[in-house]
Amino acid sequence: MELMLDTANLEQIEKGLATYPISGVTSNPSIIKAEGKVDFFNHMHKIRELIGDERSLHVQVIAHDCDTILKEADKILSILGPKTFIKIPVTEDGLRAIKILAARGVNVTATAIYTTMQGILAMLAGARYLAVYYNRMLNIDIDAAKVIKELSSLLWANGTSCQVLAASFKNLKEITTAYANGASCCTIPYDLLETGMHMPSITKAVHDFSANWEEVYGNRTLLDVD
Ligand code: E4P
Repeated sequence: MELMLDTANLEQIEKGLATYPISGVTSNPSIIKAEGKVDFFNHMHKIRELIGDERSLHVQVIAHDCDTILKEADKILSILGPKTFIKIPVTEDGLRAIKILAARGVNVTATAIYTTMQGILAMLAGARYLAVYYNRMLNIDIDAAKVIKELSSLLWANGTSCQVLAASFKNLKEITTAYANGASCCTIPYDLLETGMHMPSITKAVHDFSANWEEVYGNRTLLDVD
């Protein structure tokens, strides 16, 4: 199982890496927009520096036509390194580009997936990750959990190295349901990760343990007792 950060915010990435078991960083043009008019490749370089070589970096193309997608992919790979995952929306042109890039051994993350059929096509075209848009699917009454379950079972049954990368989350329930339905990876906005850890009941449990300890041992830690 994997957990990725769905952000291009350097501070959030740094904080996220320090605390959470993060295996990669994903972004899209809307996520980049949230950072203001940054120098794009320079910013992506900074993310790569923060996450190191072992974690995956998923960078989305902007072009819609296959030829320009391929040129953008070449530029991304030449500037950010050959291990970069090229994130390509599963349109007809996108699929053509996925097939060509995958045949060249390029890491591809197929994105903007709303249906099982899109996921199957992207998998067959050679994508390594299928970015399934959980919350956006719910918004248009598509059963996101069912699509994830279907794709995960197909990937499992076919023994492929392609994985479901569930994305587009707005609450914790969506994330846990995606994992529970077989998504081997979820990419999550930093704020949602924090929300999960900042529940009053967690804070209260820890506080109660401390209070009980202090009643017996005072203000000492395990380092100070025999
Ligand atoms: C990540 O890979 C996706 O592009 C992202 O999670 C989409 O999120 P959104 O639906 O909030 O735009």
